[in-house]
Amino acid sequence: MIEQNIRIEKGSAGNDGHISDIAGLLYDAFEPKMAALGLRREVWGKAALNSLVIEHSFFAYRGNKLVGVVGVATRSGKFLHFQLRELLKHVNPVKALFYYLALNLERRILKDELRIAYLAVAKEVRGQGVGKDLLHRVEQFAAQQGFALLSLDVVDTNLSARGLYEKSGFTVVKTIKFGFLTRRAGFTGAHHMQKRIAGSSSQETGTIDRDAAPRSCPQ
Ligand SMILES: CC(C)(COP(=O)(O)OP(=O)(O)OC[C@H]1O[C@@H](n2cnc3c(N)ncnc32)[C@H](O)[C@@H]1OP(=O)(O)O)[C@@H](O)C(=O)NCCC(=O)NCCS
Repeated sequence: MIEQNIRIEKGSAGNDGHISDIAGLLYDAFEPKMAALGLRREVWGKAALNSLVIEHSFFAYRGNKLVGVVGVATRSGKFLHFQLRELLKHVNPVKALFYYLALNLERRILKDELRIAYLAVAKEVRGQGVGKDLLHRVEQFAAQQGFALLSLDVVDTNLSARGLYEKSGFTVVKTIKFGFLTRRAGFTGAHHMQKRIAGSSSQETGTIDRDAAPRSCPQ
């Protein structure tokens, strides 16, 4: 059961003031991968600031403190899409190109698919149902918006996340092996997981703007 004083909100302009907290929460949650990429916290923070589409997310708050985030992607829009131009402001061109490829790499998304791209819960509230509740909120939203499929990728060593996804009804449909290429980042493969959405109903307010673009998106 979710801790009672935690509330879940759909991302909107009202959450703008928390963008650096969102970037920090994601960095903490994925620190081993960031470290393996040689991506420093300040660089990630600055690049994420201008690459984040807040409408593609849901947040968990305890009081005013951000304690969880889930970012989603559709065929036409992503929670985080790093522009090369933005990365070039913070690192040299070789690194910028490397980060551009590594951070934006994603399997093709189908028209009726909602992809869970990032899920992170602050350490101090883990194990209290926050992750499960964020996923549930995404699923509700997906059904209301008429999506038929939820999907995600989870690395082979992340047993707690896989456990959470399985308990939430996802199943592994494909496993990819990366071998030594990603060992430094703490994993050697990834599972692609999916969950079919039972039914879809009317539109909810605060729809994802399928054309929403990151702030830094060049015109
Ligand atoms: C993965 C993560 C989001 C889980 O968030 P959380 O709020 O702690 O998860 P919950 O408390 O909602 O747990 C949900 C379920 O997962 C299960 N679970 C947790 N750890 C598990 C494990 N090691 N093995 C099996 N199941 C596990 C729990 O049993 C729980 O089910 P229950 O409530 O029926 O007992 C959180 O640990 C996190 O932010 N990790 C770092 C970032 C990350 O790995 N993100 C996912 C990337 S794909």
